Amino acid sequence: MSELKRRIKSVPLIDNSNDKVKENHKTPVQKYNQISLRLLSRVVVVISFIVIIYFTANNEKIKIFAKQSDQISGKSQYLKCSPQYLNEIDKFNGCVPHKCKRFVADTVVSLKDVEGLLSIAKKGFQYGRSLGGASILDLHSGAMSKGQVFINIYESPYMKQLFTEEDFNLYRSVKEKVKHTIATHFGIEADKLHLTSPTFISEMTSKEPVTLHDEYWHPHIDKETYTSFHYTSLVYLSNYNIDFTGGRFTFIDESFNTTIEPKKGRLSIFTSGHENLHFVEKVQSGTRYAMTIAFTCDSKYAIHDPSVKKYNIPSKTVK
Ligand SMILES: *[C@@H]1O[C@H](CO)[C@@H](O)[C@H](O)[C@H]1NC(C)=O
Repeated sequence: MSELKRRIKSVPLIDNSNDKVKENHKTPVQKYNQISLRLLSRVVVVISFIVIIYFTANNEKIKIFAKQSDQISGKSQYLKCSPQYLNEIDKFNGCVPHKCKRFVADTVVSLKDVEGLLSIAKKGFQYGRSLGGASILDLHSGAMSKGQVFINIYESPYMKQLFTEEDFNLYRSVKEKVKHTIATHFGIEADKLHLTSPTFISEMTSKEPVTLHDEYWHPHIDKETYTSFHYTSLVYLSNYNIDFTGGRFTFIDESFNTTIEPKKGRLSIFTSGHENLHFVEKVQSGTRYAMTIAFTCDSKYAIHDPSVKKYNIPSKTVK
């Protein structure tokens, strides 16, 4: 064995032309040892590759459906609707999707829209935000996180007339774009879709949670959290890996998970049933903004578009 080692060490120093001659003088046992050693090292290399591939594949059961750097004009991932979802939505003629799916488009909401929505968020949150990592501003109900509770932005004396006609017009215009995108891409009639509650802008940071409302990362099904939802849509207002890290949106499926990396102006739409179990990863750094706009087929859960009229409505009658 020591003889072998010495020979291997010296191999790179030997001139190739001499090598041939020397090999001819080797005993059959030496030749056999050399061949088996070569074979062994090859086997080791092949096995290491297989092991590396196996473990990488096993750890990464994530499919990136939409990368931050992608510019997507429209991409779908089709799913089997959950029976619960189909059962319930079946009652609403013209509102049943041709197929359950996830859909992403970066061309519906403009960067100008994004800047306007961000300024609405920042205007609101300067008057309060959660002590923990997750704050919301609901333009319909007026609920905004403040400390460990929620305040009503339409009642706060400091926030009177904070949001303008222009702000509400922007919200409505984005909502309309989203609604028509759902109608087109899920094969339903736009006027069968009603805006439903809650509809809010969220701000997420890496702060430790203080209340349960700060724990946004638990896997959930929208239809279970909010009964009225039939179609959930999210408009991202920040860029993954630029404005924040962590905070990717992930659908949980049986054999692999499907991730959407947020991007300014990216619209993501999915049916709200059990087919779309999902969670948001914890934000690791920076601030992540997104807007949730959901639609119902059930007119009894329909809400009015948020507007300046809200400032005159006493909180008790706010739905
Ligand atoms: C998908 O994500 C969930 C939640 O993090 C995790 O428990 C599960 O193992 C993941 N599934 C796969 C196939 O990686």
